[in-house]
Amino acid sequence: MKPIIKQEHFGETPDGTFVELYKLSNGNGVEVAISTYGGAVVSLLVPDRHGKLADVALGYDSCDGYLSDAAYLGPILGRHANRIAEGRFTLNGVTYSLARNNGEHHLHGGLKGFDKVVWKARDAATPNNQALELTYLSKDLEEGYPGNMLVRVIYALNDANELRIEYFATSDKDTVVNLSNHTYFNLGGHDFGDILKHELMINADRFTPTDSTSIPTGELQSVEGTPFDFKLPAAIGLRVNQEHEQLKYGHGYDQNFVLNRADSSSSSLAARVLDPESGRVLEVWTTEPGLQLYCGNFLDGTIRGKKGVPYHRNQGFCVETQHFPDSPNQPNFPPTVLKAGAQFRSTTIFRFLTQ
Ligand code: GLA
Repeated sequence: MKPIIKQEHFGETPDGTFVELYKLSNGNGVEVAISTYGGAVVSLLVPDRHGKLADVALGYDSCDGYLSDAAYLGPILGRHANRIAEGRFTLNGVTYSLARNNGEHHLHGGLKGFDKVVWKARDAATPNNQALELTYLSKDLEEGYPGNMLVRVIYALNDANELRIEYFATSDKDTVVNLSNHTYFNLGGHDFGDILKHELMINADRFTPTDSTSIPTGELQSVEGTPFDFKLPAAIGLRVNQEHEQLKYGHGYDQNFVLNRADSSSSSLAARVLDPESGRVLEVWTTEPGLQLYCGNFLDGTIRGKKGVPYHRNQGFCVETQHFPDSPNQPNFPPTVLKAGAQFRSTTIFRFLTQ
């Protein structure tokens, strides 16, 4: 494998900053394109059981699509992925106010989160991986968060069809951090229709139920006997229309699962998704304690994605590996505090197979 990544001009931001598209590929035809704008996964070519490639990530053809995107098609999420209640948290006795960009709440880092900034890129190939390193310096009080935070994200692709995302962060003041990626996958292809027949396994005995505005109550509830029991594989669409308060609040699946895992120092299998038609399988491995399953409930056909394809409700699913929503306000959740000078580190692997 040639450890050389391809680079193309993708567009520019309104202030004239150039945006590049980098392509990592392996010997099996797998190719992932990543934009320096938001660090977004723009496309992801993966073979089916007959070796036929399809682009399994929802996205836009042009950089402009990403500039105006409000559905988070593919980007890095930060500083704090997911919701923070009422856009407020207290750390070391100081209360910080964040943008309320989701009703009363803060979502995915705010009005200009890590999905809306241009990252610095560097080829970070190793003998077994094509890799792209993205870095971004988030200034003290950017979007209301304390501390100058240096963030580094490495996307690496190997010949085992594993796309590994490694996240690193350091800050000069105590702060909070929760990094994730918001790729919408459709293993049939981004233009294939809905994902309701995809069979999903989530390695979680519990989930974090929420109030009607998607803020966790703080409880860890057993999935037993609920439509959130994916311990054994089940079609995503099988129980999505059941009468259940949490499905009503989320307009379908939009829920954080408490992952079963041995420890936090190595990656555990979090989820496995099979598209029975193409035979494509996605395994998700992570060091994170949680996984937000979101099934494109708010897509309504108004977004024109790649090749002009309209993206409808349930056209993709997101498996956002992360700490639990609203962690800065939830004393019983694993903390998202990053101490000044300490190193935050997190790994997620998207592994593609066929069956
Ligand atoms: C996350 C949230 C959803 C939604 C999407 C973006 O997955 O949990 O409620 O906001 O992001 O559309």
